[in-house]
Amino acid sequence: MAALRGRDFTGIRDLDVGELLELLRLAAELKARSRAGDRPPLLSGKTLALVFEKPSLRTRVTFEAAMLQLGGHAVYLGAQDIQMGSRESPPDVARTLERAVDGIAVRTFAQETVQALAEHARIPVLNALSDWEHPCQALAALLTIQERLGRLTGVRLAWVGDGNNVLRSFLLGMTRLGISIAIATPPRYGIDPETLRAAREDAASAGAAVEVTDDPAQAVAGADLIYTDAWASMGQEAEAAARRQAFARFQVNAALLARAPRTALVSHCLPAHRGEEITGEVLDGPRSVAFDEAENRLHVQKALLAQIL
Ligand code: CP
Ligand code: NVA
Repeated sequence: MAALRGRDFTGIRDLDVGELLELLRLAAELKARSRAGDRPPLLSGKTLALVFEKPSLRTRVTFEAAMLQLGGHAVYLGAQDIQMGSRESPPDVARTLERAVDGIAVRTFAQETVQALAEHARIPVLNALSDWEHPCQALAALLTIQERLGRLTGVRLAWVGDGNNVLRSFLLGMTRLGISIAIATPPRYGIDPETLRAAREDAASAGAAVEVTDDPAQAVAGADLIYTDAWASMGQEAEAAARRQAFARFQVNAALLARAPRTALVSHCLPAHRGEEITGEVLDGPRSVAFDEAENRLHVQKALLAQIL
C-alpha cells in the first residue's frame, strides 16, 4: 500500500500495471467489506479538497462518500468559490490548500490546470476529470469488467461515439492490461494520434489490439462490452447541434446491439442523453452495467484514496 503514498494521480498512466491491479484488488476487498458492514477508518482525520470547475453528480458524491466511509472528510469548492485563474492562480490555490488538507481532487477544463496544482502542491492531486482524461472512470470500468466478465486480459471493448477524455483514459489504461479496444468515431472526432500510438504500443506488448473504424457495426462485431459517452462533453455545449448531426450514425441502440455478440454488455460513464448517444431501451435494459459502474466509482476511489493519502 505504501507504494502510492503521497503520489499524484493526474492521469491513468501515473499507475503502472502492478499498481493498477493492486488497486482493483483493494477496491474489490473494500467493496465486499463495506457490504458486510465493515468500513475500516483508513483515513481517520484526513481531509480531501474537491476543487470542481464543472458540474458533477457521481464524482462529487463518490469522493465525498469515500472520504466519509474511510473516516475522513471532504470539502467541496465550486467554481464560484475559488474562481481559479481570475481570483487566484492555480499555484496559489495549491500552496494554500496544502496547508490545510491532505489531498486535492480537481475537476477542470485544461489538463495543464491539473498539472499546475500537482506541481505546486506538496500533497497528492487527483484528476477528477479534465478535458484530456477521466482516469477515475477508467478504474471503475475496469472493476466492472473484472466483476462481470471475470477477467481483464483478452476482453474486447467497443467504443462508439466521441474520441474524448474517457476514451483516452481507457486507451492509456486498459490496453496495458490486455484489453483490446475497437473504436468507431466519425473521422473528425477521433482520438489524437499520439494517444493512439501509445495505446497501440501498449496493446501490442500485452497481446491486445486497437482498431479504428467509422463503422459502429464493425466495432461491436466481436465486443464483450460496448461503451459510449455524451456526444458533447462539458465545455462543448456550443457544438452540441453540430455534433448531433455528425454523430447521428453512432447511437448505441437495439439495432446496433443486434450486430454484437448476444452476451455483449453495455456501459456508459453517465450522465446519459437518452435518444442521443444511447437509447433508453438499451441503457435501462438487461445488458446495461452503467449503474454498477457508477457504484464502482465509490469503491475504486476508496482504494485510491486509502493508498495515496
Ligand atoms: N461519470 C461522471 O464522472 O459523472 P459526473 O460528471 O456526474 O461526476
Ligand atoms: N466526456 C464527458 C464525461 C462526463 C463524466 C465530459 O467530459 O463531459
